[in-house]
Amino acid sequence: MPGVQVVAVPFERTAGEVVVGPGAADLLDVVDLDVLALLEHHRATGRAGEVVEHPMIVSRTDDTDLVSLLFVGIGEGSPTHFRRAGAALARAVKGRERVATSIASLSDDACLRAFVEGLVLGAFSFHRRSAAPTAPVREVVLAGIHRPESREQALARALATAHAGWSSRELALVPSNEKNPPWMADQARVVADRHGLDLRVWDERALRADGFGGLLGVGQASATPPRLVQLGYTPAETGRRTPHVVLVGKGITFDTGGLSIKPAEAMMQMKRDMTGAGAVLAVMAGLDAVGCPLRVTGLLALAENAVGGGALRPGDVLRHYGGRTSEVTNTDAEGRLVLADALAYAVAELDPTVVVDVATLTGAMKISLGQRTGGFFATDDALADHLTRAGEAAGEPLWRMPLVDDYEERLTSPIADADNAAGGPGAITAALFLRHFAGEVPWAHLDIASVGDSPVDAFEWTSGATGFGARLLLHWLEQRDPLAGIASSRRRLRRG
Ligand code: BES
Ligand code: ZN
Ligand code: ZN
Repeated sequence: MPGVQVVAVPFERTAGEVVVGPGAADLLDVVDLDVLALLEHHRATGRAGEVVEHPMIVSRTDDTDLVSLLFVGIGEGSPTHFRRAGAALARAVKGRERVATSIASLSDDACLRAFVEGLVLGAFSFHRRSAAPTAPVREVVLAGIHRPESREQALARALATAHAGWSSRELALVPSNEKNPPWMADQARVVADRHGLDLRVWDERALRADGFGGLLGVGQASATPPRLVQLGYTPAETGRRTPHVVLVGKGITFDTGGLSIKPAEAMMQMKRDMTGAGAVLAVMAGLDAVGCPLRVTGLLALAENAVGGGALRPGDVLRHYGGRTSEVTNTDAEGRLVLADALAYAVAELDPTVVVDVATLTGAMKISLGQRTGGFFATDDALADHLTRAGEAAGEPLWRMPLVDDYEERLTSPIADADNAAGGPGAITAALFLRHFAGEVPWAHLDIASVGDSPVDAFEWTSGATGFGARLLLHWLEQRDPLAGIASSRRRLRRG
């Protein structure tokens, strides 16, 4: 193929035997190579994402632009393994112009989609350098795809999901001297314009007028005031009874801890404390492309948790939207204070069928689950199952945690409805704090503090911000019936 610099072919190892996938035979017409001997020489195992390179330094003929052949392990050929293979390929071909691969020719729709998601996300990079680092590969040709016209939907969904993962990651990486609540609201405006979403933004005056005491309190010491952003998506086909999902994102654009200040090392990652809001914004941008059948509202609860003479003090009491109060015994437990406002608003004003919040909420979750699995809580088993399955399918795994009623008493405050920092077990008491604001609406709370950062490049995750949540929420919301089996949606249908 003219202009193709790299050809990538899949391989696997079944029962000890190396099997090299489609495309190898064509390759051997133009290159004199003993592929099996090469793979044995490298003791290749075939695990997903393993890459064995044969540089074409010696054997290149004049009539080819090929500089390298790659043999890419596809493990057991599951979607997860195809995603890993895609990410590994993207890393191996950075800086190339044109790459052709037969890897996707083996795949069904789920694997094709995962492979393309991996390809895009493995190419991710973010910088503010004066000179640009190596660019991602410009073009990847998917060779040997059977009936390509029938794969368009899988491809479109792959690109939308990958784009959501990418932009969620990018938003999390923007430094906080650029990124503040009004800046995030501007990003939301761009998304709303581009994707035809409804948009409403509360500035600090509107927040005061409507009683959003949590957002105002957390943001009161910052030079950049808080914002609440509401984005609305309506599917093409909609009726009076189309269910309504509300997504709420924690959008702390920098978390110093406030007067209960964080140690310097712990503060280092805190530009990413808006990952929940970034993920929700990225999801809103992708709903149309994945064909989401529900109405979806995204709420971004945006504030900077700063220190200063005007800061919230330990012992202060805040009044949330709707009137419930919190005693702030620790100003570093600020996420739940802004989420509380947004949840209360959603339940009181938006008639949601289901509410899901996403937040880098507690260090405790990181201790519980490590950095490869997100934790979540849910008041509805069917909703929990949908989210678990979506996480699995998307490559953003989730583990359900318990809402232990017996810990409720730890939230008691002598002067307010709740204490914002009830103590251990920290992720559970944070979830119990939030549950009060979800009322009777089926609700899930994704605590993604464990997975907001990746310490290393790991498959489609690049080291640093992960943007976790966007891909799994899109995988959920694209289902034909994302709310199947959820308690109140059944009630609603009977009533209607
Ligand atoms: N943003 C942090 C949680 C966090 C920690 C996110 C590590 C990512 C990595 C949150 O606002 C916080 O500081 N939570 C406190 C709560 C405590 C004071 C009750 C925590 O988890 O220590
Ligand atoms: Zn905090
Ligand atoms: Zn925080």
